[in-house]
This record gives sequence, C-alpha cells and structure tokens, in this order.
Amino acid sequence: MEAVMNNVTIEKAKTSKIKDVDFDNLSFGSIYTDHMLVCDYKNGQWQAPKVVPYQPITLDPSSKIFHYGQSIFEGMKAYKDESGSVWLFRPLENFKRLNKSAKRMAMPELPESYFMDGLTTLLHVDSDWIPQNAGSSLYIRPFMFASGNGFHASPADEYKFIICCAPSGSYFSGKVKVLIEKQYSRAANGGVGFAKTGGNYAGQFYPTRLAAEKGYQQVIWTDDNNHEFIEEAGAMNVFVRINDTLLTAPTNDRILDGITRKSILDIAEDEGIKTEIRKVSVKEVVDAAKNGSLKEMFGAGTAAVVSPISAFGYEGVDYDLPELKDSYASLLKKRITDIQYNRAEDKFGWRHEV
Ligand code: PLP
Ligand code: COI
Repeated sequence: MEAVMNNVTIEKAKTSKIKDVDFDNLSFGSIYTDHMLVCDYKNGQWQAPKVVPYQPITLDPSSKIFHYGQSIFEGMKAYKDESGSVWLFRPLENFKRLNKSAKRMAMPELPESYFMDGLTTLLHVDSDWIPQNAGSSLYIRPFMFASGNGFHASPADEYKFIICCAPSGSYFSGKVKVLIEKQYSRAANGGVGFAKTGGNYAGQFYPTRLAAEKGYQQVIWTDDNNHEFIEEAGAMNVFVRINDTLLTAPTNDRILDGITRKSILDIAEDEGIKTEIRKVSVKEVVDAAKNGSLKEMFGAGTAAVVSPISAFGYEGVDYDLPELKDSYASLLKKRITDIQYNRAEDKFGWRHEV
C-alpha cells in the first residue's frame, strides 16, 4: 500500500526484520533498516524521491560507476532522546557537502528539499530502528552514483541517489593506534581529497591494510608534497594537544572538511580551550612526544565521534600517549554527544528535530 508524506511516496515493506536485531550488541554499519530512499536522475532532472523496501538494485554492467567511479557519499546519524524524540546533527552541512562533492565529480547537484524531506520521511518510516541505548545511534548513509551507461570516459547521464540506514554502535572496538604515513598519499593538490568520493577510501585500503598488519587501526595521512605535515586520518579529522593547546590542520583541497571537526573547534573555544588551526608538522608531534609536552591526540568524525588515540607509530618507532583523567577528548566528546542526544542546551543551534 502506498502513502505520501512531505511529498515523498512511501511503499511499505510487507514484513520487518527488526525482531532479529540485537540492539544491545550493535556493530557499526552492518544491519540495514526495512526501507531506503531512492531518487533517480534522468532526462536532465531529478525525479521525485520514494521510500521503498530495502532491496538490491539492478545495474547494467556498462554503468559508469563500475568503470569510472563516479560515486559520492555522506555519513550522518539520527539520535533518539530519552522521551523518544529523534534528532539530526547539522544535516544541512551534510547536504551542502554532498553537493560540493557532486560538483567536483561532475555529478548533478540534488535539490535541498529532496534530501531533507526524503531523509525525514525515511526516518519517520523506520523510526523504530533508531536505537535508544547509550552510545548507539542510527547511522545514515546518503550516496549517489552513476547508473547511466557507456564506455566513453565522460560523465554519465543517469544517476541514483539513495539513503540507507544502519542501527550502529561504536566504529572502533578497542584502543586506536595510528601510523603516521610517509610513503603513500591519500590526496593530491588540486585533486578530489576534499570530496567524499569512494575512490578516496578505496585508495587507502592497501596502505591501511599494511598498517593493520603492524597493529595500527588507522593511518594518519601527511601532505603529498613532502609528508611533513599531519592532514587527517582514514575516517576522521585529527586533533593534537601540545601542553594546553589544541591543534588541528587547516582544511584544504586534500582534506575532508569534517562537520565534527568544526563543531569541536566551536565547543573548545566555548570551553576556553586554546585552539590553533595551523599546519602541524610530524617533527613537532614527535618532538613533543619525546619531551612529554604531547598530552593527547584524538580523531573526530561522525562514525568515530571523538576517538582518543592511544599511540602513534612513525619511522618504525611507537610513541605511547598518556592516559589523562581530564582529557580534552572526554570533555569535548561529552559536550558534543550531550547536544546530539538532546541531553544539554544547544546554544549553537545545531540540533534538528525530525
Ligand atoms: N575525514 C574523513 C576522511 C572522513 O571519512 C570523515 C567522515 O566523514 C571525516 C574526516 C569526518 O567528517 P565528519 O565529521 O563530517 O563526519
Ligand atoms: C563517517 O564518519 O560518517 C564516515 O563517512 C567515515 C566512514 C569511512 C565510516
């Protein structure tokens, strides 16, 4: 049976998988809700979005996604508070970044109403799937890819925009040890590093696997010029605390402009923490680790939230970080998650009720 909400057509699934889900033991991004949003681009325009049962998609083998990798995505979360109300965190930032990525990858930009109305309708339909357990949330994955076909190496003429959701727990299961990379690069000047495009992640898998074989969970990428400055990690932006100052790299065309990163910077400033957005050299971090002034490192991202880094490796040497009782990471994590889960005042106006 079909219904309509916010101008979005809803085709309900005949059965639900929710009874099979153990909400007390959720991993990250591996179980999907009963529905998804689908929106097609053809004949030069986006067609009306629809909520349909979660299902496989059929594509022609000559679809350009398979050959030329035109694909972009976003990562967001929906949070359920104690009273059962559902919240998004700065969703328009994700919408704007999706279109920034689309533009760089020569893909069509999506209208804001299709993104926001489509997403909120999907969340209403699958609201029972949004976990209420501490530390869990509904991870939302909006993505767009070239469904149009042809071996000509040029942009496709048809695309699909889909949103799928996965009730999820933590992204990292234990301590996060990182390797500061000196050989491989994630992104180049003038390239696509700032865009959330699939190839940026595929290109990291091999060096990240080499690092994992040595016991590191993430690679910290350095600049592509001389591997001299810290840029970001595989799935999160990076903060370094030297003495009482919190440092993070400025964004550029090689770095993803993280929404968590910029929120953390605003919260840190509100807390009176001294912050500096500037180039942070690997030498500065290694020297600080040696002389004891390196107090903390942590990653920040939607999936990672705020993830303390327990140690980093560089040129074959591991440097452990101290375990601080009153770390900036725990303070900032509490402040941001209290806003996200509607446990505290939202003085920045970031929360968006669904
Ligand atoms: N950097 C990379 C490479 C990422 O994949 C992510 C995750 O989205 C981030 C940074 C953090 O961005 P955000 O805080 O917007 O999730
Ligand atoms: C996110 O944090 O939402 C991301 O997209 C990172 C991803 C690699 C899990």
